[in-house]
Amino acid sequence: MKKNKIFIACDTKSIKKVKKIIKETQTNKLKVGYKFGLEFFNSKNGRSFISKIKGKVIFVDLKLCDIPNTCISAIKAIKDLKINYLTIHVSSGLDALKVSKKISGKIKLIGVTTLTSLDNKNLKQIGYNKNLNKLVIHQAKLAAKAKLDGLVCSPHEVKNVKKVFKNEIITPGIKLDSKINDQKRVATPNEAYKNGSDWLVIGRSITKGNIKNNLKKLIKNINK
Ligand code: C5P
Repeated sequence: MKKNKIFIACDTKSIKKVKKIIKETQTNKLKVGYKFGLEFFNSKNGRSFISKIKGKVIFVDLKLCDIPNTCISAIKAIKDLKINYLTIHVSSGLDALKVSKKISGKIKLIGVTTLTSLDNKNLKQIGYNKNLNKLVIHQAKLAAKAKLDGLVCSPHEVKNVKKVFKNEIITPGIKLDSKINDQKRVATPNEAYKNGSDWLVIGRSITKGNIKNNLKKLIKNINK
């Protein structure tokens, strides 16, 4: 049977903590990958640590958002890392997406649609007129046009996104209990998988507190 897939967000600047997260999330019940975002990647020895990880699915969540030339240069600059996934904001624009995809080679280039910490009110604040669902679909179509390898959206949008974007879908905004932290568009793991998500991204619900117990709770939650 195919295993459910999750990326664990290693949002810390401590290498010791990352080692602990990796050690305590070894399981044959799930396919587990590790996501490193701006915090760890920019920490003193973070990049070098990532360069030495072997035999794991590695997702570097840099959320590039820049002019085409800078996106290309940034991707070239991390090519020495044998990473599997890299993110770019779809709002970088079609040209930046296309040239980035061209240069990314074996690294899967993943478009970030609208952050799961934003709701309709927040979108208005930053000057977007489209409502959330429409905006995400619009962004998904653009990502499809640029032939991106995957897309990040909330579990709420997956069903509709899949109609216009046929590659991998990765969803953060996963809650295991009533705590949602700073996320707005959230769902349970099963809801996200049921909607068609290929990978879930889970951070604090796993990495805060007792990691082994949190993982057990997640596995139980999925198999319920
Ligand atoms: O702790 P939590 O499970 O909320 O972490 C979610 C992770 O997913 C964080 O690392 C965050 O940067 C990332 N992410 C997100 N929303 C997006 C893209 C990435 O929450 N749209």
